[in-house]
Amino acid sequence: MEILKVKHLRKTYHTKKHEILAVEDFSFNLKQGEFVAIVGPSGCGKSTILSILCGLDKPSSGTIEINNNLKFGYMLQGDNLFEWRTIYKNCLIGLELENKLTKENLDYVNHLLDTYGLKDFKKAYPNNLSGGMRQRVSLIRTLATKPDILFLDEPFSALDYQTRLAVSDDVYKIIKKEKKSAIMVTHDLSEAISMADRVIVMSPRPSTIKNIYEIKLTGKSTPIQNRKAKEFADYYDKIWKDIDYHV
Ligand SMILES: Nc1ncnc2c1ncn2[C@@H]1O[C@H](COP(=O)(O)OP(=O)(O)OP(=O)(O)O)[C@@H](O)[C@H]1O
Ligand SMILES: [Mg+2]
Repeated sequence: MEILKVKHLRKTYHTKKHEILAVEDFSFNLKQGEFVAIVGPSGCGKSTILSILCGLDKPSSGTIEINNNLKFGYMLQGDNLFEWRTIYKNCLIGLELENKLTKENLDYVNHLLDTYGLKDFKKAYPNNLSGGMRQRVSLIRTLATKPDILFLDEPFSALDYQTRLAVSDDVYKIIKKEKKSAIMVTHDLSEAISMADRVIVMSPRPSTIKNIYEIKLTGKSTPIQNRKAKEFADYYDKIWKDIDYHV
């Protein structure tokens, strides 16, 4: 079932001196439970697309159809935790803003913290946690309001390589277990191929969709395992060529 339909999205930014056509044409449909990654050269408009899809910005033209009031959650670059709030209190921010601090919702937050290895850190402050743990807190905070679709903009970019692998594996398992749909922007082609059901490759600005790959890996399982699939390198080569990086 398709839960989000995007047709001919276009975005022009107006500054005092110029008009910048950031996104020329972007159309795609998201299926229930699907994980989609968006990759493309720097400045091509990936964040612009994500912020329009999740309603933080408006398109200049084009339409977005959403299935019966689905709820969105976003996790932007970095973890944006508040250092003066405990881990538990950080996880409650979304619920506070929505005025939904019900017993049921608080139980859900406690359940997520317990399930995902943060049981003993509820009263700790962010600066006592590792980068990976902080990222998990950030995800739990996003999940607390029970969104149906998660929007992730470079969610792991603040992490070192080893942690990034472990955390992306973690986050992927959580998203799948909680049966969410997700759209993730990333610079990391391996991350995109190992996590996503489909990878959308954008052209340079003004951007359009250059290619969409359905990722079919033999023995598809978790992102770390998926990197070992025999088709992995082939997808990597194709997408690398599409993006046409000049070194
Ligand atoms: N608020 C704004 N006002 C004017 N121009 C903007 C604004 N936001 C983005 N742009 C321009 O639109 C283009 C797309 O920006 P965007 O941040 O969406 O790209 P991106 O693909 O996410 O880049 P990166 O990979 O570096 O994160 C860029 O040329 C940028 O300078
Ligand atoms: Mg960006």
